[in-house]
Amino acid sequence: MDLGLTGKVAVVAGSSRGLGRAVAEALAGEGMNLALCARDKVVLEQTAREIETRHKTNVLAESLDVTDFEAGAKFVHQAHQKFGRLDVLVTNAGGPPGGTFDDFDLDDWQRAVDLNFMSGVNLIQAGVPFMRQAGWGRIINLTSVSVKRPLAGLILSNAVRSAVIGLAKSLANELAADKITVNNICPGYTRTARVEQLAEKVAADKGASPAEVIAGWESTIPVGRLGEPSEIGALAAFLASEQAGFITGQSIVIDGGFYRGIA
Ligand SMILES: NC(=O)c1ccc[n+]([C@@H]2O[C@H](COP(=O)([O-])OP(=O)(O)OC[C@H]3O[C@@H](n4cnc5c(N)ncnc54)[C@H](OP(=O)(O)O)[C@@H]3O)[C@@H](O)[C@H]2O)c1
Repeated sequence: MDLGLTGKVAVVAGSSRGLGRAVAEALAGEGMNLALCARDKVVLEQTAREIETRHKTNVLAESLDVTDFEAGAKFVHQAHQKFGRLDVLVTNAGGPPGGTFDDFDLDDWQRAVDLNFMSGVNLIQAGVPFMRQAGWGRIINLTSVSVKRPLAGLILSNAVRSAVIGLAKSLANELAADKITVNNICPGYTRTARVEQLAEKVAADKGASPAEVIAGWESTIPVGRLGEPSEIGALAAFLASEQAGFITGQSIVIDGGFYRGIA
């Protein structure tokens, strides 16, 4: 299926590794030019050049922290300036630290809000005028299955990511007339380096092996395995496509059946 993305431009935040990188790879595979960002310049540059070589596409790479709102907005403008258009915006960042309510003070809460909510608001605010001008756009927020099923020990993530869902639902209505869709991807356990590190940490705490910890997680997932980042990438590519123009305001869980609710 031709997704109608060839020659279009995507800004993908938090994209040097993990899910963001997988989304970038999938969009590049559809012939899109990309603007990528992350904090670590060396890893980001390496990712950008690998994607350019593999997919024969153009990649702008800017090392920045998405909680630096000025830098984030400048990055979106740079992407538009370089490529002359901005069609798809994928908001993403690392997750906030794990812990329970007693572990965090107000500064921790503010940092989580900035990292997993305001960073997206900022990028969207910068990108929407270009999409409106073009009369077409796709906004995709990478969040978590925790918006459907809060996860134990991740109170910051559970609380803050729900704000993204409220934002997207409202924004989807406000931007529909401009042919801009807004959707959320809500992954369950997906095999990224971050998740493997988490398994190592939990294993050390429990006196188990990382493989045992991962097997424990897999036993809670009906399909019996972790997700692959490329599966998140494929969903993002479809949501970005011409064909997905009738899907907006949705939070799509991609978790192998981990979330057991019916809505
Ligand atoms: N993997 C899963 O199973 C899973 C499931 C549900 C939700 N999620 C959520 O999905 C997001 C991505 O997860 P992941 O597993 O792909 O994480 P990851 O492997 O740690 O990758 C995060 C990416 O974002 C970049 N990044 C992190 N903080 C940033 C910041 N402040 N500014 C700019 N870039 C930043 C990282 O590069 P730098 O560190 O160099 O900045 C990296 O490229 C996280 O919010 C995570 O909580 C993941």
